[in-house]
Formats: sequence, C-alpha cells, structure tokens
Amino acid sequence: MATHKLLLLPGDGIGSEVMAEVKKVIGWLDAQGLASFAIEEDLVGGAAYDSCGQPISEEAMAKAFAADAILLGAVGGPKWANVHYEVRPEAGLLRLRKDLQLFANLRPAMCYPALADASSLKRDLVEGLDVLIVRELTGGVYFGEPKTITDLSDGQKRAIDTQVYESYEIERIARVAFELARTRKNRVVSTEKHNVMKTGVLWKQVVSEVHGSDYNDVTLEHQLADSCGMQLVRAPKQFDVIVTDNLFGDILSDVAAMLTGSLGMLPSASLGAVEEISGKRRALYEPVHGAAPDIAGQGVANPIAMIGSLAMALRYSFGLIEAADRVEAAIAGVLADGYRTGDIWSEGMTRVGTAGMGDAVIAEL
Ligand code: NAI
Ligand code: MG
Repeated sequence: MATHKLLLLPGDGIGSEVMAEVKKVIGWLDAQGLASFAIEEDLVGGAAYDSCGQPISEEAMAKAFAADAILLGAVGGPKWANVHYEVRPEAGLLRLRKDLQLFANLRPAMCYPALADASSLKRDLVEGLDVLIVRELTGGVYFGEPKTITDLSDGQKRAIDTQVYESYEIERIARVAFELARTRKNRVVSTEKHNVMKTGVLWKQVVSEVHGSDYNDVTLEHQLADSCGMQLVRAPKQFDVIVTDNLFGDILSDVAAMLTGSLGMLPSASLGAVEEISGKRRALYEPVHGAAPDIAGQGVANPIAMIGSLAMALRYSFGLIEAADRVEAAIAGVLADGYRTGDIWSEGMTRVGTAGMGDAVIAEL
C-alpha cells in the first residue's frame, strides 16, 4: 500500500484540540490497514510566530512542499492582535496558499438529516442538501494591483482595489469544477457579474469555452452572482457545483455554510495544479472555522469540521474513496445517535466535548 505523506499544522486556539481528534481517526485508518501515513507536524500562525518570529518557518514550508497533503487546524487569536501586519498569524496561511499555488477552494455545504432543524431555513429546504462551492482563491480583487489608499488634495481619501483575472486562471478553476461535477450530479453553475464587470465577461466566456471543448457531458448554467445568492437561500437543493471567483466565492460559501448549521461542521479543501512529474495535486485541508479563542482550551470545540477535512483529503488527495465514505458515514452516524458538542446541541441530545466527539466517531467507525 502506498504511504501518504501528511503534514499536520495544528496552529492556534482550538486548532490543536480538533487536530488531536483527527489523529485518532488517522490512527484508526492505519490500524485497520485502510491507509498508511507518514506523518510530519509543525507550527503555523501565532504558535510559529512565538517560536521563530515568522507565522511559518522555512523548515515548515519545505515540509509543506514535500507533503502529499496538509491538514491545518486554525490560526490567530487576540494574543497576536498587535504583531506586525506582515507576520500576523493569518500571513502563515496566506503564504501556504500563495506559495503552493492553491487556486481552487472547495467548500462543501452538506446538511446532515440529524441537524436539518439547526439550519436557518426550513427542514424540507435543506434536508439532504449537498452543494459544493468551488471558489477561485489566488486571484481576483483580494490580490489585484493597484491596491491603495491615497490622500487627495481636497482632504478626501481614495481607496482602490483591483479585480484582475487572466484567462488561464479561469480555465484551470473551471476544469476543477467540471471534473468534480463528474464525480457528483454532473451539474455546474458558473457565477459572475458579466453585466457590470469585465472580469465577469471574460469569466463567462472562458468557462463556456472550456465546457464546449472538453466537458459537454456536464450541464452548465450561468447565473449572475446576486441572483445566485438569492437562489441559494430560496431553493439551495437545485445546486450541485457552483464555480465562482474569489470575492463572490467568499460570500456565497459563507451563505451556503449557514444553511447547514454550525461553523464547527464545515470542512474545506484548497487544491493546486497537478504537477507534471509526480502527477500529484498540491492540497491543503482545513476547517472553515477559525481559532475560536472564546472557547479555546476548554475541550468543547466541535472536531467534526476537522475530521471532515481529513475525509476530503482521503477523497481528493489519496483516492481513498471507501475510507472517505466511511469517515463521513461515521460523522452522520454519531449525529444520528444524538451526540452533540455545545455549538450544535439541542434539548434531549447527548452533550459531549471535543474528545468525546472524537471517541464517538472512532466507536462508530
Ligand atoms: P472563529 O471561527 O474562530 O469563531 C467564530 C465563532 O464560532 C466563535 O464563537 C467560536 O467559538 C465558534 N466556533 C468556531 N469553530 C468552532 C468549533 N469547531 N466548535 C464550536 N464552536 C466553534 O472566528 P472568529 O472569532 O472571527 O476569529 C477568531 C480568530 O481566528 C481570529 O484571530 C481570526 O483571525 C482567526 N480565523 C482564522 C481562520 C483560519 O485559520 N482559517 C478563519 C477564521 C478566523
Ligand atoms: Mg469568509
């Protein structure tokens, strides 16, 4: 069996607490002979800053380049609120995304039947929901130049952000979306604002071209981003894969997230290009939530987002579909059995802490 090189970066706050539960699942997979891992571990975020003055060390970056996949907990916290902007904890995560060229952010929004009543929408609108948002992560308005605030002569100020997309960036994210759709319900909605933005015009054109030349078997629909937002809360189950740019993806994925309940439930993946020589795709998996300083150190954080992120790694980096299915089924199982951390707890359910939830998942497995 192939040995998969996995780098664990627990990070700050609840990061190390939820990572401890993932280690139990990794150990279980290993012990069952379902997967074989070579594990490395290092610091990121505030923890790395405290140790070496940088939010990620060169040594950790080298390990990241050598890994088949990276699992990251979370970074940040009030302790580092006043450190220099360039070395703030989040900069460690941004450097990983940028240097590894992780251009495709996958944000699944799945609604477990046991939690359908925790959604902000009615049960029948969300029960069985399974949407995957594919967000462009390394381009667009968050990175485009110029990006400035200048003083004007009349005492006013002017702020500029610039949205830039080149066709290759749109093409590669479109390909990821179409490939993923083929493993799902075979439907892609591409969303932009071609009515008011040039990047939207190019986006729509390139996605259509990629579709026409290589993915005719996938159903493609174009939707304006504002309309897509509306549809997501009106009838979310109409969607399979949504592909969009960095800014709209940031917003739409948070909207989709809230359809499913708690932040503590949401995994994510960030994928890079397939390398020519190894044939491997660089990838980082992390929960959507942050370091949650308000509950850190209390042993109450929900580890499901982190465990779900491991399941995504099994699926997308290692091709261990059966193992991924089993981990996801175990998550659904513990929820159906009534186990709840505080963030998803409701009357009559069995309240557990971080370790209790991890143990329940292992027992279910
Ligand atoms: P957050 O996601 O850390 O917390 C938001 C709220 O959700 C808090 O009330 C928290 O207790 C709760 N929560 C989050 N994850 C949970 C879990 N697994 N189980 C139970 N409850 C959970 O976002 P916030 O408070 O805005 O940011 C806190 C710190 O984390 C900041 O320093 C921020 O910069 C950083 N952050 C890091 C991210 C990352 O590492 N990818 C993402 C978002 C924020
Ligand atoms: Mg966001």
